[in-house]
Amino acid sequence: MPVADLDELRKQVAETWWYHTLELAPGLETPGWFDTRPVLDRIPFPADLSGRRCLDIGTFDGFWAFTMERRGAGEVMAIDVPDPRVWDWPANSPPEAIEQISSRRPGSGFALAAAVFDSKVERRELSVYDLDPAQVGTFDFVYVGSLLLHLRDPVGALMKVRKVCSGSLLLVDAVSLSLGLAARPAATLDGMGRPWWWKPNVEALVRMVEAAGFSPTGKPVRLFMPPGKAQEKPDLSVGALRLLRNRAGRDALVSAWKGDPHAAVAATVR
Ligand SMILES: C[S@@+](CC[C@H](N)C(=O)[O-])C[C@H]1O[C@@H](n2cnc3c(N)ncnc32)[C@H](O)[C@@H]1O
Repeated sequence: MPVADLDELRKQVAETWWYHTLELAPGLETPGWFDTRPVLDRIPFPADLSGRRCLDIGTFDGFWAFTMERRGAGEVMAIDVPDPRVWDWPANSPPEAIEQISSRRPGSGFALAAAVFDSKVERRELSVYDLDPAQVGTFDFVYVGSLLLHLRDPVGALMKVRKVCSGSLLLVDAVSLSLGLAARPAATLDGMGRPWWWKPNVEALVRMVEAAGFSPTGKPVRLFMPPGKAQEKPDLSVGALRLLRNRAGRDALVSAWKGDPHAAVAATVR
């Protein structure tokens, strides 16, 4: 890429809020909130998607959709709800919180990356709740990443995914560390002032997948979704260590330091 174009690209990257870390040119990475790249080797994401019709749900900057394309997918559709104000907000959410999170509006990062990659991914503004095979057809492979946590009705959403999936599903979503030792499916509920809802333990995440009409294949994989450059490392000074006194504080420290606890569940349609 000519230097003038690279300078322009750097400027546009700096003006955009990035969820994903994407290498747009050698040495030019987007400062993502997460760096999902190391996760690819830990989860059963198909190495070869030749000829497959694929769907990425809640694509944000498109990391998973572009990966499908690079792995040979015949066709990739990526859906998203670009206006954060219409995400699943609890009714108790303060308008300031809605305005603040709404500044992280998905769309421009995807458009810039798609142009740089000369991507053919079709991005549609569509909610997971509105997936309908009559409108979008069916897909051989569907990826759902870090989305259920933000939905009031995660199982209802997965049931909609089941209607458009004719092959396999890979679900990678947030899980509760503190409920990890419960011997049965269980979840915590946030639902306080932000679009964060259920955080299941791994057993409950698997149960959600089964309840929606999929058969899990293999064992779930536990992982930490690594923070990207946009997330500051936590301050571990004595004052900050007060965070360790309560569960929310401990979770925040683990997330910012090591990554957000997640699990991957692969499944096929039943
Ligand atoms: C936490 S980001 C996850 C990004 C990406 N899927 C990943 O795994 O790296 C959640 C994404 O879900 C999208 N989203 C929120 N509500 C949605 C809905 N009802 N249907 C589809 N996407 C939704 C958001 O716009 C955002 O792009």
